[in-house]
Amino acid sequence: MARKLAAGNWKMNGTTEALTEVAALTALLEAEACEVLLCPPATLIARMADMAHGSALMIGGQTCHPNASGAHTGDISAQMLADAGASHVILGHSERRADHGETDEDVAAQVTAALTSSLIAIVCIGETEAERDAGVTLNVVGTQLAGSIPEGADLSRLVVAYEPVWAIGTGRTPTLDQIADVHDHIRAELSGRFGSAAQDVPLLYGGSVKPSNAAEIFAVSNVDGALVGGASLKAADFGGIVSALSGA
Ligand code: PGA
Repeated sequence: MARKLAAGNWKMNGTTEALTEVAALTALLEAEACEVLLCPPATLIARMADMAHGSALMIGGQTCHPNASGAHTGDISAQMLADAGASHVILGHSERRADHGETDEDVAAQVTAALTSSLIAIVCIGETEAERDAGVTLNVVGTQLAGSIPEGADLSRLVVAYEPVWAIGTGRTPTLDQIADVHDHIRAELSGRFGSAAQDVPLLYGGSVKPSNAAEIFAVSNVDGALVGGASLKAADFGGIVSALSGA
C-alpha cells in the first residue's frame, strides 16, 4: 500500500506575512493518518522548515536544476533545497513544462538530482484539454511517465502526481471515472516497468482539489492523495483536505 500524501504547491505566492498560515496549519495538524507537505517559493523554504520542525508538516521545493552547483544564474539545486530543510521537490509541473520548456528528459535529469540529494521527487504529468478531446490522454500520460522517470530510480523516493492541465486553477475537475482510468493506468505502467515496488508509489491527483470535493476524489481507486495549488494557501482549506485524506 502506498503512503498517503497531501501536498500543497504555493507556486509564486507567499511572502513573510503568509507564515501565519503555516503556524495555523501546524496548530491544526493532529495525529494525521497521512503525510502533509507544503512547497512554498524558495525564499520561504528555510523559514518554513524551521517553523515545521517538530510538527507533522514537511517542506518541499517546486523545481531544481539537474546540476549540484555551477554557473546557472537564478537556478537552485536539489542539494540547496535539502540544505534549506526541504524533504521533497515537485518536478515537471505543467507550468514549468509550459513556461520554461521543460521536457521529459529534463525532468528525468532533475529526478536523478533530487534522488541523489535524498529528496523525494514528486513527478507531475497530465494532458491538455486538446489531448483529452482527441482521446489520447492515456498515451500522453504514459509517455510523460516513461520519459520523466530515469532508469534505476529508487521508487521508495518517488511520488507521481496526475494533473490534467485543463483542471489546474480552473475549478474544473475530471469525473471520478476519468481520474480512476488514469490512475489505474499509471499504476499498471509503473508495475510493468518496475514490478511490485510500484505498489508503494503514492499517486496524487491534482487540479482544483478543495475541501468540498476532496473526500470523493480520495475514494477513487489508486488515488493516494492530492497535489493542491490554490486551496493550499489557506490553512483552513488545506486543513480540510488533510482531514479528508486522513479519514479516507
Ligand atoms: P490548483 O493547482 O489546485 O490551484 O488547481 C494544482 C497544481 O497546479 O498543483
